[in-house]
Order: sequence, then C-alpha cells, then structure tokens
Amino acid sequence: MNHFLDIHKTDATALRTILDSAAAMKSARNGRPRGAADDEQPLKGQMVALIFEKPSTRTRVSFDVGVRQMGGETMVLSGSDMQLGHGETIADTARVLSRYVDLIMIRTFDESVLIEMAEYASIPVINGLTDRTHPCQIMADIQTYEEHRGPIKGKKVVWCGDGNNVCASFLHAAGQFGFDMVFTGPAQLDPEDEFVGLARKAGVSVTIERDAEKAVDGADLVVTDTWVSMHDSQSSKERRHNMLRPYQVNDALMAHAKPDALFMHCLPAHREEEVTSSVMDGPNSVIFDEAENRLHAQKAIMRWCLGV
Ligand code: CP
Ligand code: NVA
Repeated sequence: MNHFLDIHKTDATALRTILDSAAAMKSARNGRPRGAADDEQPLKGQMVALIFEKPSTRTRVSFDVGVRQMGGETMVLSGSDMQLGHGETIADTARVLSRYVDLIMIRTFDESVLIEMAEYASIPVINGLTDRTHPCQIMADIQTYEEHRGPIKGKKVVWCGDGNNVCASFLHAAGQFGFDMVFTGPAQLDPEDEFVGLARKAGVSVTIERDAEKAVDGADLVVTDTWVSMHDSQSSKERRHNMLRPYQVNDALMAHAKPDALFMHCLPAHREEEVTSSVMDGPNSVIFDEAENRLHAQKAIMRWCLGV
C-alpha cells in the first residue's frame, strides 16, 4: 500500500511508472465515450472516498470519473457535512473510514490534516491539494508536457506570479524529473525556501528573477496560476493584484519564450488577470490537455496506491 502525499515523497522510479501507466490507460481508451468502462477493471469492488474541504471542479469530477472507468465506486464527502467539521479528530476519522472504504482522496487546508490522515489510515491516502502543495496536478502537467514535447528532463520551466501550492509541487517535480525552474514574481510571494532548497539539493537549477521578461527568455514551458488562492484571504486581493500585475502572462511576455514553448495553467483561471485570453486560447496553450490528463494521471496514481 502506498500513499501519494507529495511528489518528493514518491521515488522517481515510481513517478515514471505512474506516468507510463497513465499514458497506456489513456491510449487504451481509444476515443470511447467518457462514461464507458475501461477494458481492465482494476478497481472492481473497491470504494473510494473523495473528501473536499475546499471547492473543486476538476479534481472532483476527474477522480470520480476515473474510479468509475476502472470499475470502482465513489463517495463524495464535504468536510463540513462530516463530523470532521464538528470536532471529531482526523485520527479517528481516518481509522473509521479505513473500516469502510479502500482509498481516501482528500482536499484540505492545512497540510497537517493530510499527514495525520495518512498516519492513522490503514488504506492509501492521496493529496488532492493542500495550502502547500498540489501533486496530482503536476503529475498531469508532466504527462501533458511530455505528450507534446518529449522528455521534460533538462528543460527550462518558468513559473510566473505567486509562489503558491502549485508552484511548490512544480519545484518538487523539478528535482524528481530533472528540469530547471525559474521563479519570477514579487519577493513577498517567493516560494518557500524549503521547496527551492529541495530542488537544488536534487541537483537542478532554481533561479529567482524579478524581471519577468528576463525570466521567460528561452523558456520551454511558461506556467502561472491564480493570484488569489482558495486559502488566501479575500481582503488581500487588491494588494496581491497590485504586486502581481507585472507578472501577467500575455503575448508580449510569451514572445520572450522559445517559439514552441508551451503555456500551462492548472485552472480555474481568471482571464485578463494572471493570463490573457490571447495566451490561454493561443497556439502554445495546452490548458485543456492538462485538465484532461488529471483523469489519466490520477487513475494511474490510484492503481499505484492500491497495487492493482
Ligand atoms: N486544478 C484543479 O485542481 O482544479 P479544481 O480546483 O477545479 O479541482
Ligand atoms: N492555487 C490554487 C490552485 C487551485 C487548483 C488554489 O489553491 O486555490
């Protein structure tokens, strides 16, 4: 049994196995209807609990559909409807759920909730986003990059804007998949030293560059995300927007990247804020492939977790 808690906590060989399995399952579906079952039914007879303490469109739907395609069943639970939201401990919740279901995916605020859930559950736990990281997203992003451009190893990935949870998982992935990262954004929103340090320790280059145009120069992949995450207070919105405006991804900025550079955004996006529609809907954008690959990558993550 394996938990999938973060990209740096899963060894590089397992990460590659997961991506290979995601690609194989994607091609095996061969354009059949989304609701149709896969030929292989590795989750037959298995029940998956999907717990959401924050809103979600992609994570919720892609996990739910993925489990069903593989023959399993799901139960979507909102944190506030559970006793979890009324004082029952995470440890007790984990032990109880382990008696009913085969796998837990949880989206939560504080990372400690995820860690405690994994510590006390006797079944696998998957991180569906915390305030600090979003590993399932980045597995889908690596799958997407490699589908379009081949191996990501040695490429230059530029993160523009807020050094947030999605940026953190990209830094984890840089160390594991061997690509270089440049962060460009205001100093107040730099990624945590821990994430930068881990990537550097793994032997890849991480550069902080305040000038967005210099940062994007020669990039193979340009990535951004919302300027106000679900865990950020709405009262900080105006201040954050003022700081982040110079880091908007627009056509002028993309012109500094390689001509065949890809653009990614985990979505949901705020059009004309962190990125213009011209880039989102332009020829370099692969945002909807990323969203689709959440389905395939997570199916492979669940199989790896369950060993099926
Ligand atoms: N990218 C992502 O995780 O989207 P949702 O918040 O809609 O799940
Ligand atoms: N950084 C965003 C990602 C949403 C998928 C958030 O945490 O709200």
